[in-house]
Amino acid sequence: MFETLQKATLDKIFVLMAEYAADPRANKIDLGVGVYKDPQNNTPIMSAVRKAEQRILDGAKTKTYKGVVGNKEFSAGIVDLALGGVVDATRIRTVNGAGGTGALMILMQVLGRARPKGRIFISDPTWPNHIPLAENANLTVHYYPYFDPATRQVDFGAMMKVVDTLTGDDVVLLHGCCHNPTGANLTPAQWDAVVESLQRTGAFPLVDLAYLGFGDGLVEDAYGVRKVAASLPECMIAFSASKNFGLYRERAGVAIAIARDAAAADVVSSQMQNIIRGTISQTPDHGAEIVRVILEDKALRAEWETELTQMRERMKRLRVKLADAIRRKSNSKDFDFIATHSGMFSLLGLPQSVVEKLKTEDGVYMINDSRINVAGIPEDRVDELADYLIAAAG
Ligand code: LMR
Repeated sequence: MFETLQKATLDKIFVLMAEYAADPRANKIDLGVGVYKDPQNNTPIMSAVRKAEQRILDGAKTKTYKGVVGNKEFSAGIVDLALGGVVDATRIRTVNGAGGTGALMILMQVLGRARPKGRIFISDPTWPNHIPLAENANLTVHYYPYFDPATRQVDFGAMMKVVDTLTGDDVVLLHGCCHNPTGANLTPAQWDAVVESLQRTGAFPLVDLAYLGFGDGLVEDAYGVRKVAASLPECMIAFSASKNFGLYRERAGVAIAIARDAAAADVVSSQMQNIIRGTISQTPDHGAEIVRVILEDKALRAEWETELTQMRERMKRLRVKLADAIRRKSNSKDFDFIATHSGMFSLLGLPQSVVEKLKTEDGVYMINDSRINVAGIPEDRVDELADYLIAAAG
């Protein structure tokens, strides 16, 4: 049987994570996989999460099935968090996903059923997993330019040149905030322009919302997704609780579909449920239940928001520290963009050979497209990291 198979390509992010784990050097620096790190270089369990988890352990009476749509109260809390009531609930349907990736999988599969082999336009560059997710859903991947490597900012003119040509049969995948991998994000005015374009062309937006609260704040980061949802007759949103609740391995996410009316929404809901049942039958509930408990409890919610703010502020501080150190040491503003980007990542714009050299010679790990996870910047070794980057960039 297996002789007909060829070795599949593994995702570079997780290949790098394994390489980092296997590296015996004590001074190695992990700027690779997108997980939050505290000053001790740990990915902590948030205290609100610990308390919610304890409450669940103490109070749970059963582990029976929840049903195919999953934890409805979790989904309702997330819809509220992401959309803030801008869409009439009669047009919204949700199912839980196994993480944000699971939510993307469900939504893309529905889109692949709606438009078999249809075109999905994805930002260039993007999170690498978007591509197999779309291809596995029977969609045809196309790209829109997104990033200007010279300025390290969004190349909005080039992006809109493509977005403006889309048709009512096309899907456009938008990063809701904290663009992965670039760290360069649309301004509110640019979101407005994208939405105007989609209103004109009828192209269908799918918003990947994996980092809500990691950029400028829970409400600020929701500007784009709220604008899309409030202004267009149909859209989809994939929400991930992996980062903002630190629930990476629990796989908690929500697939949100917004349709023209309740009848159309029911059809989409049945498709989403059919996909879940025919793939994984039920979604995991532990992480979903943790988030539900936090969002429904005033004190826990406040605690979570405070922790999330601390995480965001720490990432911002690390950005500024690294950019300052590089400017001071190199007398050049070439890396100032690190401080102005937002979210978890910045794309440094280094060639792959330089990225490889940083890894093998200095023990500095980043994704081969030169994406860094800013949460991994060691605060007490910022100068050392700046030296490595300056030397590598030549
Ligand atoms: C990343 O981009 O590093 C994270 O989203 C982890 C992942 O699943 O790829």
